[in-house]
Amino acid sequence: MKRNGPKTVYIETYGCQMNVADTEVVLSIMRENGYGRTFDLTSADVVLVNTCAVRENAEQRVYGRLGDFKHQKKKNPALVVGVLGCMAERLRKDLMQSELPVDLVVGPDEYRKLPELVENAREGEKGIAVRLSRVENYDDIIPLRTDGLTAWVSVMRGCDKFCTFCVVPFTRGRERSRSLRGVVDEVTTLVAKGFREVTLLGQNVNSYNDESSGSNFADLLASVADVDPMLRVRFTTSHPQDMSMKLIETVARHQNICKYIHLPVQSGSDRILALMNRTYSSSHYRKLVNAIRGVIPEVSLSTDIIAGFPTETERDHALTLELLREIRYDGAFTFKYSPRENTKAWHMGDDVSEETKVHRLNEIIDLQRDISFSKNQNLVGQIVEVLLEGASRKSLQDFSGRTDSNKTVVFPQTEHVVGDYIGVSIERANSATLFGIAASNAARVDARLARNA
Ligand code: SAH
Ligand code: SF4
Ligand code: F3S
Repeated sequence: MKRNGPKTVYIETYGCQMNVADTEVVLSIMRENGYGRTFDLTSADVVLVNTCAVRENAEQRVYGRLGDFKHQKKKNPALVVGVLGCMAERLRKDLMQSELPVDLVVGPDEYRKLPELVENAREGEKGIAVRLSRVENYDDIIPLRTDGLTAWVSVMRGCDKFCTFCVVPFTRGRERSRSLRGVVDEVTTLVAKGFREVTLLGQNVNSYNDESSGSNFADLLASVADVDPMLRVRFTTSHPQDMSMKLIETVARHQNICKYIHLPVQSGSDRILALMNRTYSSSHYRKLVNAIRGVIPEVSLSTDIIAGFPTETERDHALTLELLREIRYDGAFTFKYSPRENTKAWHMGDDVSEETKVHRLNEIIDLQRDISFSKNQNLVGQIVEVLLEGASRKSLQDFSGRTDSNKTVVFPQTEHVVGDYIGVSIERANSATLFGIAASNAARVDARLARNA
């Protein structure tokens, strides 16, 4: 089914925000080469799937999707199907087995080759490009974004930490940072286009290091915050090992850097942390949290937890629950351990049964839900500042937005428009959402501007 008119690319994105950001880079590269984006799979000339390999179930979802594309390819044999991202890097030519309708396999550092590989594939030649690079950071490519309120800005790539459970160092290669100038210029353009929030991204964003200007992550964060006082600045993910006092003080000093830090701990047991190669102990982590709270008393914290790492006992699990009770995070992302081939932990076996993993995971989820609920109750009766994002997904009469601390707030619609900062008086809350009504807001927004003047 060859169509006339411009060539089109359809892309689906799985996994973390780094992949969302990479998809925008891919779309930019494709557009330079004459491919417009389509959201309609059935009319596309090229179908790309940007994949995640972090856990088994992430990969299963992609296999399911590739099965669907097989039908599409039957209908349109000229269709080119490409697998990008971390699964492409991990599985390489294995993705080209006969049952899968895959013409291209392209890893995260090889996206510049996509147009050429796509052209070859249209001629019937399958292609694979999975070399990892020590320098590629796509600094010169302007990601193709849909205009909106919030943007993901990738500032560094790769990971050098080698936690024993994790595929990322293998799928994303070594750490490398973009230039501070490049990031600041990109953010300046985003502000001019009306974006109100940026999230600076890296697997270990706080090990950012721009050698050309001698800047570390605290320097970058301060420079981005200075672009516009009305811009909210977020960042993720921070590794506890690289969380400097300078960085904490930078967050405290800038009113427009969100007082929210995602600081994955993974486990509360020192024995398990050592087996995970996380490079800190639970007491170091606790001290770090105390230091952060000392400098930024209002800070919101979230974490990642893995349940059922190899050899994890009930005692280890109890230490994780204890740490959660003590730290009282605002939120937690929780995962069952998933063995990944060729990682160090893969060789430790997978001795915690599925049933035990599920049981421990549920205990962690239940405990955290109670903590999130009770922390949110503390906000009832307070006025919080919300960046208005649009209509609530659950009820069209309501607006939805987020606080600086990344909590979702739902309130009846007012005359405000998307992108406004509004003071909302909180009336009730559950573990995930705050509900309230708009309060007079002008004073707060003026105060916000004044603080930056
Ligand atoms: N670089 C970030 C995030 C990495 S992936 C960090 O270091 O925090 C996001 C989360 O997925 C990790 O924090 C970890 O909790 C989880 N994860 C990674 N590999 C996993 C595995 N093999 N099984 C289960 N969870 C895993
Ligand atoms: Fe994976 Fe650890 Fe690197 Fe995070 S820091 S990406 S968990 S290896
Ligand atoms: Fe997944 Fe790769 Fe991100 S493995 S979590 S898409 S870095």
